Amino acid sequence: MADHSKLRAAILIISETASKDPATDKGIPALQEVFAEKAGDRWTFNETRIVPDSVLDIQRAITGWSDGEEFFNLVLTSGGTGFTVKDVTPEAVSPLIHKHAPGLVHGMLAASLKVTPFAMMARPVAGVRNKTLILTLPGSPKGAKENLEAVLPQLVHACQQAAGADSRSLHVGGTKKLEQDAGLQPPKQEATLVQGHHHHSHDHGHSHSHGQGGHSGPKAHTKPEDRPPISNDPSAGPTRRYRESPYPMLSVDDALQLIDQHTPEPTVISVPVNESLVGSVLASDVAARESVPAFRASTVDGYAIIASNHIMVPSTKGIFPVTGVSHAQAGEVPALQIGEVARITTGAPLPPKATSVVMVEDTVLRSMTDDGMEEDEIEVLTGDIKDGENVREVGSDVMAGDVVMKKGEGITAVGGELGLLASVGTREVSIYRKPVVGVLSTGDEIVPHDRQGDLRLGEVRDTNRPTLLTAIRGSGFEAVDLGIASDKPGALEEALRAALRTVDVLVTTGGVSMGELDLLKPTLERALGGTIHFGRVAMKPGKPTTFATVPIKPTAGGTHDAQKVVFALPGNPASAVVTFHLFVLPALHKLGGVSPRGLPRVKVVLAEAVRCDARRAEFHRVVVGVDGEGGLRAVSTGVQRSSRIGSFKGANALVCLPAREGRVEKGERVDALLMGMVGGEV
Ligand SMILES: *[C@@H]1O[C@H](CO)[C@@H](O)[C@H](O)[C@H]1NC(C)=O
Ligand SMILES: *[C@@H]1O[C@H](CO)[C@@H](O)[C@H](O)[C@H]1NC(C)=O
Ligand SMILES: *[C@@H]1O[C@H](CO)[C@@H](O)[C@H](O)[C@H]1NC(C)=O
Repeated sequence: MADHSKLRAAILIISETASKDPATDKGIPALQEVFAEKAGDRWTFNETRIVPDSVLDIQRAITGWSDGEEFFNLVLTSGGTGFTVKDVTPEAVSPLIHKHAPGLVHGMLAASLKVTPFAMMARPVAGVRNKTLILTLPGSPKGAKENLEAVLPQLVHACQQAAGADSRSLHVGGTKKLEQDAGLQPPKQEATLVQGHHHHSHDHGHSHSHGQGGHSGPKAHTKPEDRPPISNDPSAGPTRRYRESPYPMLSVDDALQLIDQHTPEPTVISVPVNESLVGSVLASDVAARESVPAFRASTVDGYAIIASNHIMVPSTKGIFPVTGVSHAQAGEVPALQIGEVARITTGAPLPPKATSVVMVEDTVLRSMTDDGMEEDEIEVLTGDIKDGENVREVGSDVMAGDVVMKKGEGITAVGGELGLLASVGTREVSIYRKPVVGVLSTGDEIVPHDRQGDLRLGEVRDTNRPTLLTAIRGSGFEAVDLGIASDKPGALEEALRAALRTVDVLVTTGGVSMGELDLLKPTLERALGGTIHFGRVAMKPGKPTTFATVPIKPTAGGTHDAQKVVFALPGNPASAVVTFHLFVLPALHKLGGVSPRGLPRVKVVLAEAVRCDARRAEFHRVVVGVDGEGGLRAVSTGVQRSSRIGSFKGANALVCLPAREGRVEKGERVDALLMGMVGGEV
């Protein structure tokens, strides 16, 4: 028998992804947390299930929980309530419901409309089947939590009624009483709320025991501001925004680890071997289709001959008739007989049976044909010609089937790899698809860098976009210019959605600090259902760097949900470049199968003392060159204010300064990340 002192609740997660990999589900813990924090002692919560977006699977789960003797009081579903084709939860749940509960639907919608206008796109269903109350919550853990919290205070009574408790006995004490029990109007003197004291009139419901001192109403144990951080609610206005970033400050290493963890694995594609291959990385070994050379070829100009160490041939010294000619061209060559020679040019195929080639220098002409146009006989002056002399054997460079390139090796612009693939007849190879990177600037104050005329007050030229496009292409990846997006909520969301449809990685700049117009994080989280993996890094410059992934519904042909990667870089030009090299590049390398990932790290000697930041690791722009002794020396590019793109002029490296008091002295050895080629002496 179930424990009737508690209400029994079940959670059904409806998600394609989580149904394949339950580890990815965040809905169950989020919902259990709401109950644990706010109503823990009234509910047992040990029944959970995850199903894909399938009407049948959803209905089976719910009827299993509502139709038997051991029914559940409450079934919460999360997911599949949107507008896309695969969203079928309301269609699955509606027909199961015996008594609809539009009031609960209204309550949930009203709560989420306060958070975001996108709540209009939700299609919640609520109602009672047999004795079970069913609520459909949105798929995002945050949305589900918000909705649940909105109706939570009513759920105990709703479930008691649904289970058959007499409504009038439940209502003794009036609405005020009900609200008090639900924690809506906490009585003035907390201290007088002794358990079991004022509940007697109320203890008639059969679905809870008397043993535990009756039921005290659900009571929140945390204040809203103590709950896990989320992005600013843009509709709440400037007075409600966070005064301090709600995101924890991560170390650079932790941030890099999260990037590595959440950037998707590379995609393997098959492509023709042509110049477009340059910069790609092979996803599998390449075996030679053909041997090189594919035929026995002469390495000199001379005469093909059957050599002296052949059992039938006493010596190559002597006079021979010239019975054939072999040029370096395609076609059949007649076989050579013992006692004959055939004239041959460098690279030409040996006639069958010929074993060697004697150089023209080792011969003299003895006679010509009657018309004087051709050689008739020649004399070979040496008897020392060996088998195989001056012959390149079949496969002496590469044998058919030999592995000529390995998985993970790159095709460089130097040309050697492409030449090798071409020489062994490889027409197609598997490579890692190079990610396409979109660059978007955000902010109403940003104008194109080449806009004519003077700047108006407050306007700023867009330096980040051209800078980042150059850096991405310079790193060997395809970059797409997505222009400038407005700071207005609708416009920004539109721009982000359009961008994520076309690119694999989106890099935005601006809109991630604490300003009231910084809409990027809220839009990523609330409107696009993305996950922000970090929003602050203990580094200088680049503190507000944000990394998120956004799930994209599979397209018609696609089979699984795709994750798009979003880097929201700070709007300051120097910060944008530093964080691109530090954070975006390793992700591009992972997606493109490039290894090792990120900028190469070298040791350099500082040419002058540099002050450190006590709390944040600093990435100081420097010029690295060779010093007198062949070591590497780093010279600072000057003042490192994050708005100062000038500090990048000539910079080819970032020196990594530790977070500590004081300074790193002249002559000390520090790590540097190389962004470009190391030049001459500095
Ligand atoms: C869930 O809890 C009930 C009562 O508390 C218990 O009877 C049941 O065995 C539990 N089920 C699981 C799967 O733990
Ligand atoms: C619950 O409802 C279904 C459908 O109306 C019905 O078939 C079933 O018998 C009911 N179960 C109980 C325990 O009332
Ligand atoms: C080279 O291959 C790419 C695909 O990798 C293809 O798009 C392109 O058209 C090819 N170029 C030529 C000249 O065939």
